[in-house]
Amino acid sequence: MKFLYRFVIFTLFVVSSFGDGDDDDVGYEVTNKTFPKGFLFGVATAAYQIEGGWDEDGKGEQIWDMWIHSNPKIVADGSTGDVASDSYHKYKEDVACMTEVGVHYYRFSIAWARILPNGRTNKVNKAGVDYYLNLLKELKANGIEAMVTLYHWDLPTALHDIGGWTNPEIVGLFAEYAQLCYELFGDYVKTWVTINEPKQICHGGYGGSGYAPGINSEGLGEYLCARYVLLAHAKAWHIYDTEFRSKQNGRITIVIDSDWFEPTTDSAEDKEAAETKIQFVFGMYANPVFIGDWPQVMIDRVADRSLKEGFDQTRLPPFSSEEVADIRGTYDFLAINHYTSYMVSAAAEPNIDNPSWVKDAGGNVYQKDTWQQAAIGWFRIVPWGIGKLLKWIKATYGDLEIVITENGVSDRNGTLEDDHRIRYLKLYMSHLLDAMYEDNINITGYTLWSIIDNFEWTQGFNGKLGIYYVNMSDPERPRVPKKSSKYYANVIKTLCLQDSCE
Ligand SMILES: *[C@@H]1O[C@H](CO)[C@@H](O)[C@H](O)[C@H]1NC(C)=O
Ligand SMILES: *[C@@H]1O[C@H](CO)[C@@H](O)[C@H](O)[C@H]1NC(C)=O
Ligand SMILES: *[C@@H]1O[C@H](CO)[C@@H](O)[C@H](O)[C@H]1NC(C)=O
Ligand SMILES: *[C@@H]1O[C@H](CO)[C@@H](O)[C@H](O)[C@H]1NC(C)=O
Repeated sequence: MKFLYRFVIFTLFVVSSFGDGDDDDVGYEVTNKTFPKGFLFGVATAAYQIEGGWDEDGKGEQIWDMWIHSNPKIVADGSTGDVASDSYHKYKEDVACMTEVGVHYYRFSIAWARILPNGRTNKVNKAGVDYYLNLLKELKANGIEAMVTLYHWDLPTALHDIGGWTNPEIVGLFAEYAQLCYELFGDYVKTWVTINEPKQICHGGYGGSGYAPGINSEGLGEYLCARYVLLAHAKAWHIYDTEFRSKQNGRITIVIDSDWFEPTTDSAEDKEAAETKIQFVFGMYANPVFIGDWPQVMIDRVADRSLKEGFDQTRLPPFSSEEVADIRGTYDFLAINHYTSYMVSAAAEPNIDNPSWVKDAGGNVYQKDTWQQAAIGWFRIVPWGIGKLLKWIKATYGDLEIVITENGVSDRNGTLEDDHRIRYLKLYMSHLLDAMYEDNINITGYTLWSIIDNFEWTQGFNGKLGIYYVNMSDPERPRVPKKSSKYYANVIKTLCLQDSCE
């Protein structure tokens, strides 16, 4: 840190001049290149994190309502999403913020239980449908396109009661819900996302990693979930492709999140450990969609460990060749959420005892203490990681169109002068531009998480990631611009990350 400050004095354009931490980007210069004309900028949210109105106007209960209400201590600050940013009543103010920033599109999610209180299509809640239609009309009136996520983790409790994402029936149930959404909203929607971040749904929700529904079925339930999430996504994609695409002219894909995993050294062992880890994290969901089937390293490692654990077959449920063919190619572009990075070194094979996805992946995975931390513990700022991840994606899956569907950073102390967020955005977007110009990676959109402060899952209101501040103690939930909203507005207007790109 001290070194950085000395460095700053002599060098005008080094990134360290607006930060206080070593993120291994010392000496990196923010690019003067500009985003190409036609590049799209957006902002993102998710239903449970912003809407509130958790039981209003006929909305059904979903697993986050259920889980947090029955385990209030689970959330760091004891808060809930019952009211959150109150977007159920204040969506017009959200759209006004977006208009002020000048974004091209808004990525938000539909709460399944708001339109189908029991998860099934036999009972449609008109008030819920009207809410989303009103939001879509408000966006259209303001010239903002809609990117709509069908599932951002809020499964109706009625479907959780029959096993949720570990019950094969969920595939057809999700497809029915998706079809209804295309029918109801498709005329307004330019881009659909079937499912957001399957890793969090399956390993967070069923692998005991602290997300609803809080099931701890490591190494078993989390793989069943992954299988049905992928089949559900594929079925919903095919319905859109065959029945709606020609009428509605939209695009549809799945959003996969991934950290970057950097090998600690250049040794073959560390590189293999890092490659294995990213295959278990990103490849697990991307390989079936972009190449076909689970990644081979997963098939091999889970089979091997399962036998040693005394199972008579692999814990990773295999796809039939029909299923492989059905899932392969169910994308219109590659959508990725990215926030942070990890180092990986080779390690002794994890003990053969209780199975888990984490042990199946192996390796010694850690973050460097020197990487600057955001408010949320795991969240360290590693700008170069996004560039390496994008290069790896191109090398692994080929030259696909890529949209960044989430990227952003939490506040540290609630200030409106959020210079650290401006620094984060500038650096991450600079590495994005490098990927576009130096590595010829076809990135066509960038989505900032988030437009307003909201309910950050088990971090509650501690994890504020908005470029507009929302006072969660104020019943009016006013939206107040942070400095970063002006910065992002300027990037969108000028296509330049600096004061000037001359
Ligand atoms: C950006 O432009 C400035 C001023 O012309 C120049 O000093 C700097 O080296 C440029 N940075 C890069 C990364 O090209
Ligand atoms: C990027 O992908 C889009 C959509 O497939 C395509 O229209 C465009 O030509 C591609 N751009 C480059 C530079 O390859
Ligand atoms: C809050 O964070 C900002 C940005 O990192 C910093 O400039 C400011 O000094 C901090 N304020 C307090 C009271 O810690
Ligand atoms: C938030 O709202 C509460 C209740 O209206 C008020 O007492 C408090 O001063 C507000 N905090 C900020 C930072 O505006």
